Amino acid sequence: MARLSQEKINEIRQSVDIVDVIGEYLPLEKKGRNYVALCPFHDDTHPSMSISPDKQIFMCFVCGTGGNVFTFLQKYLKISYIEAVKKVAEIGHIDLSEYHLDVASAPVSKKNAELYQMHEEAQKIYSYYLNTKLGLEAKTYLMKRHFSDELIKEFQIGYAPLNQTLYPAFSKLGFSEIDMVKSGLVIESRQHFDRFQDRIMFPLYNQQGQVVGFSGRIYKPTQTDSKYMNSPESDIFIKGETLYHYHQCKEAVKAAGFIYLLEGFMDVIAMYKAGIENTVAIMGTSLTKGHIQALRRITHSIHLCLDGDAPGQAAMGKAARELEKAGFQVSIIVLPDNHDPDEIYEQQGKDGLLQALKKTLKPIEFLMEFEYQKIDAHNYDDRKSYLEKMCYEIAKIKDPIDQDYYIQVLSKQSGFSTDLIHQQIHGMQPQFHQETVASKKKPVHMMDKYQKAEHDLLFYMLNHKNVALKYEAKAGFMYNDQYRIIASYIIDYYRHHNHLEIADLINSIQKEDLVQTVVEIAQSSLPEKYEEQAIDDYIDTIGKNAKRMKKEQLLEQFRYILDPKQKAQILDEIVKLGGQ
Ligand code: GTP
Ligand code: MN
Repeated sequence: MARLSQEKINEIRQSVDIVDVIGEYLPLEKKGRNYVALCPFHDDTHPSMSISPDKQIFMCFVCGTGGNVFTFLQKYLKISYIEAVKKVAEIGHIDLSEYHLDVASAPVSKKNAELYQMHEEAQKIYSYYLNTKLGLEAKTYLMKRHFSDELIKEFQIGYAPLNQTLYPAFSKLGFSEIDMVKSGLVIESRQHFDRFQDRIMFPLYNQQGQVVGFSGRIYKPTQTDSKYMNSPESDIFIKGETLYHYHQCKEAVKAAGFIYLLEGFMDVIAMYKAGIENTVAIMGTSLTKGHIQALRRITHSIHLCLDGDAPGQAAMGKAARELEKAGFQVSIIVLPDNHDPDEIYEQQGKDGLLQALKKTLKPIEFLMEFEYQKIDAHNYDDRKSYLEKMCYEIAKIKDPIDQDYYIQVLSKQSGFSTDLIHQQIHGMQPQFHQETVASKKKPVHMMDKYQKAEHDLLFYMLNHKNVALKYEAKAGFMYNDQYRIIASYIIDYYRHHNHLEIADLINSIQKEDLVQTVVEIAQSSLPEKYEEQAIDDYIDTIGKNAKRMKKEQLLEQFRYILDPKQKAQILDEIVKLGGQ
């Protein structure tokens, strides 16, 4: 079987457009010739990843991560280089059956395999029981809440009977009691027994769609336990990363261009009944960094619709602020009378729910309403502290037109003059602006003039074969280790090609830090055209640097060598190098 040649790998890379491939995973926005996205490789708040359709590379200006389509898939999906190549070949419909691919048969993580298996088994067992006599009353409850069989199947809803079911089944299947307890599905006290009993069971999935936990709901008026019981956290169930319906919502999110972020999974199901599938639920917890990162991967626009009671509203304000800070477009939906989507659907049907979802507020509007109803509008001190709070929020608005508009609104509402509000805001602004500018800039590497010459020369070598040949003939050396290695890759590339594709050069390099440097150089904002004189100057500077370094080395030797004859020789060499 043939091995994959560099040429074949380049062909595979050229069979796809990096913009399409990254676009499968991240929402992209066109900006000039390039596309931008929130960088998934660091905690990004403004779109700092740029994807160049011309060069077929991507690069984050903040964290420096960059490369070609293979690099992206490798890093994003945490797969090996060869797996990334195979994946791209699949996308580009390139047949690799005649090739021998050593995918060092990555040991599929055996870790936690038992925990996943037990959850899969449990889900099947619970589903089975819902359609037995034991589950009849539970099923009746679901019917009353308008759960069709199709819906029950879609959300894999089941029933945990009152008697022991999982423990005996798991024992028969040969799972150890230690693993059973680890899964959270079995509890150990004097003996082992099922955690969930006589509850309607909703499977909870991880981001890849595997069942990792359950939420069980009571369904009889005689049941006085807490309404929902959830699996405890385990090695596979991490609450702060769990969003209900995440793995099922992606296509709908892509189609709609935004996601509804809801409080409970019953709300996700209610929306589904109304034909809305671009939803996830945080399930009664507060929004975590893990949630935000997961959301970032599928959208940059969020319609926030948490519960309407006072704590729910406070949570909504906080979540809105965090999401905006994380770079999302946020709209807020306040449903009438503190109802949740499920209640609205029950009372007003599909059309009523669709109608209610239409009324969206910007976060600032929501905050102004929310904070204003908390104060006594007749009390001066209340109004003053309200004003201060809101000035702080309005100062953060970047769009000057929006800002001016809300200043007017605030003035009317609070009774203080717009002049005063302007003054207040003026005093606050610099600090916000500095914050955003500072956080956006990539740490600048201090470069001396020698390094800069090498760096810029590499840029022109990437773009023009002539320059590369000139470097090889006249300098052939760079002092910076990374640059020197990159230069030799470039020279080597031109031995077989007249024109250099950065994205293919990356294929031959592969080493992560070198790839990042190449991408960074390729993206430098130097004029594409070059002057012969400038190239000569770079080479001259590099030559001088080589001499300077050599001289330093000799001086060092001179100091430590004792033999007078050798010392004289070294001195002679130093003199020959000339003064710098
Ligand atoms: P229904 O009452 O069945 O319509 O559910 P809901 O979605 O209206 O529930 P609610 O708004 O009261 O709670 C929202 C989310 O908080 C639920 O989806 C649960 O994940 C969580 N939750 C609610 N009650 C409990 C509870 O008693 N225990 C635990 N652990 N979580 C709960
Ligand atoms: Mn409800």
